[in-house]
Amino acid sequence: MTVLPLKTPKAVVPTANDDAAPGQARFPFAIVGHVDHGKSTLIGRLLHDTGSLPEGKLAELQAASDKRGGTLEWSFLLDSFQAERDQGITIDTTQIFFHTARRPYVIIDAPGHKEFLKNAVSGVAQAQAALLVIDAAEGVREQSRRHALILQLLGLRQVAVIVNKIDLIDFDPKRFQIVADEITAFLAELGLTPKAIVPISARHGDNVVARSSQTPWYRGETVVELLDGFEAARPATELPLRLPVQDVFKFDHRRLVVGRIESGRVKVGDTLTFAPTGKSAKVASIEAWNAAPQIAAGAGQSVALTLDDELFIERGMVASHPERQPHLTHEAVLRLFWLDTQPLEPGDRIGLKVATSEYPVAVEGIRAVIDVDSLERQVADRVGQNGIAEVLVRSRSLMAIDLVDELTKTGRAVLVRAGDIVGGAVILGRAAEAKLAEEPRLLFSPDHLVTNKARAAANGHQGAVIWLTGLSGSGKSTLAMALERELFAKGRQVYVLDGDALRSGLNNDLGFGPEQRVENIRRTAEVARLFADAGLIVITSLISPYAAERAKARNIVGANFREVYVKADLATCEARDPKGLYARARAGEIRNFTGIDAPYEAPPAADLVIDTSAASQVAAVTDLVRYVETAVTQDAGKHSRLA
Ligand code: ADX
Repeated sequence: MTVLPLKTPKAVVPTANDDAAPGQARFPFAIVGHVDHGKSTLIGRLLHDTGSLPEGKLAELQAASDKRGGTLEWSFLLDSFQAERDQGITIDTTQIFFHTARRPYVIIDAPGHKEFLKNAVSGVAQAQAALLVIDAAEGVREQSRRHALILQLLGLRQVAVIVNKIDLIDFDPKRFQIVADEITAFLAELGLTPKAIVPISARHGDNVVARSSQTPWYRGETVVELLDGFEAARPATELPLRLPVQDVFKFDHRRLVVGRIESGRVKVGDTLTFAPTGKSAKVASIEAWNAAPQIAAGAGQSVALTLDDELFIERGMVASHPERQPHLTHEAVLRLFWLDTQPLEPGDRIGLKVATSEYPVAVEGIRAVIDVDSLERQVADRVGQNGIAEVLVRSRSLMAIDLVDELTKTGRAVLVRAGDIVGGAVILGRAAEAKLAEEPRLLFSPDHLVTNKARAAANGHQGAVIWLTGLSGSGKSTLAMALERELFAKGRQVYVLDGDALRSGLNNDLGFGPEQRVENIRRTAEVARLFADAGLIVITSLISPYAAERAKARNIVGANFREVYVKADLATCEARDPKGLYARARAGEIRNFTGIDAPYEAPPAADLVIDTSAASQVAAVTDLVRYVETAVTQDAGKHSRLA
């Protein structure tokens, strides 16, 4: 007999039709983990308990399970999806849809980690979050490790852990805690902090949709609550404008610049800068075939523009707004997935295709090959077929590129050789760091004889950087100072680097234009890194309005960096206006004021969010203290720049 232990699902939309409502984007996430740890069962359970199973599927499943004479095998469900998939066009990933009351989801499931990586690097699987499933009885296994490493390689920061089969350890909180600690420690080694660690039984449904009565000691979220709490990436129209030029042609007397908007928005009257020449002109009109001209257009749309000036423009150039241009560089560091049977070696010439441009590049050096089995970084002089590597390439002409951390669409590239696609790549950097290794050594920094470990042992905690970001008036400095006092009282070595204070000394040559803010953040990150290296807990309090620059700060600092979003909406901050600056900005006395006439990019995946419009200051500080204490007392933390 088949037992289907159903609980009353909480977040069920009572329909089997899981089509997303028009305009509502599906949130893509991945479920990874060791084969037998229960990925498929969790997927089946999620689909079932959210009411997302197609009509008749459950009966089919039950019949299949009965034939085998066992309890309901959720994994048959995936097999049946797989079979359906095999009849269709071959794609490398399976996409499984379901929805909660909050939003529709797509689970990106790839048969193996190699395929997952391949897809991810070439841009198919764009998971915004991932669940790592771990068997409560078995704990962390080889594949759990490997998958966690993949998540880290892909730059996924929204990661949560699902401890499955909690029934097999008798819902014992002590045993759960042991597994949770083991996972936290090994994720910390990778610089990953899980958003949550949820004890579940996928087979029986505990804490998946319905809260389990068997785990009264667990006060955290269910899987569905956790998923609903993941933050979605900003819509592509809100990102900086990238319009790669496909073609330029004459039509009547007009010269039309044609291309597809990859990200951002453009409107008539905007000034556009064309990389790599750097020449600018205003948009005179946005033409459309067989339709009236438009005033504005956004990501995903193909447009034909006329400009108010006759610039030299050709295919492969990239139009952007002058304040957020792509990087111009001769060198780039790529993380690539190599497909060709002939290995890639230093000195090889290949084509780097980024959007509509193809740059001939030479492979200058291989920084590391990442072993696909152990996923260790290794020194190598070639990249074999299906290999993953970090490679430095050089182009004679200037390349206009984005880093994948900043803009995913234009931060990806396809590699071509003799007209064939031989690999996919993401652009990691502009190569400044890599260059040091390639050029004759001029800098020799001596090793400290006092190790980080020794410092941590003396202090009783690790060094770390707690990076507060938020609008002016959101409460960053108030929280920073209160946090400093509390941690100091606990005997911690702690210091606040405050934006206003730094700007009156170290950064007193900097204003508030985009480039100057970038430099402000870079310097602060470098100083914070040194302080953290010296063993201190550094709390930075800067608006730091650009996501890309905060990502760079994370890179500079390394594993012990935590981004804390001090959240308060503009209206709240403006009402508080502690320094009277909003009023002056509104009156036009201050220009480039964040929130008024300069942008603030809220973190899509901060390590911690403190909503100061909702929580009391005392509660906020308590949360922060607890969070920081956990972060700095894990002994697995490291201070090195990203390895
Ligand atoms: S950041 O953008 O470069 O990170 P930072 O945090 O150092 O900014 O400095 C912000 C502080 O400078 C604000 O709290 C405010 O007191 C002051 N300030 C003066 N002019 C501006 C401006 N145009 N935009 C934002 N803050 C300003």
